[in-house]
Amino acid sequence: MAEFKLRIRRYDPESGKPPYWDEHTVELEPHRSVLEGLLQAKGTTDGSIGVRCSCRAAICGSCGVRINGRPGLACHTHLDDAQYRAKDGVIEVEPMGNMPVIKDLIVDMDAVHWKKVQRVTPWLINKEPVPEREYIVPRESMIDVTQSMACIQCGACVSDCLTLEVDPLFVGPAALAKTYRFVGDPRDAAHEQRLKDLAEDPHGIYSCTHCFQCIEACPKGVAPMSQIMRLRRIAGSDFAINDRNNGYRHEHAYVENIRRNGLLHEADLLPDSYGGKFHPRAVPALLSSLPAISKALLRRKVTPAKALLHPHKAPDGVKRIYDIVEGRDERIELNLYITGTDEDNAEPVVAS
Ligand code: SF4
Ligand code: SF4
Ligand code: FES
Repeated sequence: MAEFKLRIRRYDPESGKPPYWDEHTVELEPHRSVLEGLLQAKGTTDGSIGVRCSCRAAICGSCGVRINGRPGLACHTHLDDAQYRAKDGVIEVEPMGNMPVIKDLIVDMDAVHWKKVQRVTPWLINKEPVPEREYIVPRESMIDVTQSMACIQCGACVSDCLTLEVDPLFVGPAALAKTYRFVGDPRDAAHEQRLKDLAEDPHGIYSCTHCFQCIEACPKGVAPMSQIMRLRRIAGSDFAINDRNNGYRHEHAYVENIRRNGLLHEADLLPDSYGGKFHPRAVPALLSSLPAISKALLRRKVTPAKALLHPHKAPDGVKRIYDIVEGRDERIELNLYITGTDEDNAEPVVAS
């Protein structure tokens, strides 16, 4: 047995009082979970602590909280580990971010997370005609969607999503990972409609800023950002969906920019994304970016010479990479979630 100090963020919106920190000392074996610590504090010293849990085995997704500033499952975080990572030896537990607090550590998942999941039609729209018996699905296809199927809907990725912080309407990492679960499933009849819907939505697949936070946050290795990038690749490359948000053209401009310069030449990126400096679509975008451009010039993050000249030329090595990738008959999608090979007849192993 050892003593652990928990600093819990308390808040009751109905009380009219601001949030505050509340400390409790619990005595448990070090390998016990933060959830067990919270439940001991609730059971022995303060029954009013609001905390949600169910399975206590990292499978129901109920106990999502922030521990020492990072999102995670309280039932899947050992007390000794949490204490080691705490800045002053006191384990800090707060409610998840980007969702309103109902009480203490309980957030309103309905208001944000579930609403977004409902937005993406989270069920299979089956192909017709319905076979007399089961649909036969290639094994590789099911392996391909295993990663997105591993989601337990805990909301940790939603809590940490940087885009959601500035754009609450963003469909978000969990709902978009859920979308891949159906777009990657050959039994689903609505791949193109799903992708077109989320490409044309100004808060859809092209709103993700590629920040990796959801990959870091996810306790189940779903890697929502990777699923979003796969949705983009399928939307752009397989269905040629040229969306009104300029997402597809922006990605294309990015690829061409690196092909030309070897390094990203940012000054060209925006005009190229809109069809070139003098394209009618580019003018309003350039004008609206003037405040950001002026700030960058004032802070010497960019100089007029750097912006107008092309200091880099792509070396031959970069061109060779493009030739190899574009010379392939099929796009290679790496699913790093599954390891193992067919050759030795080994069953695929799901990485933990
Ligand atoms: S990678 Fe995209 S979806 Fe994931 S947290 Fe960052 S902005 Fe959100
Ligand atoms: S993707 Fe991961 S972090 Fe996000 S809800 Fe699912 S299990 Fe939780
Ligand atoms: S209580 Fe079910 S995931 Fe933690």
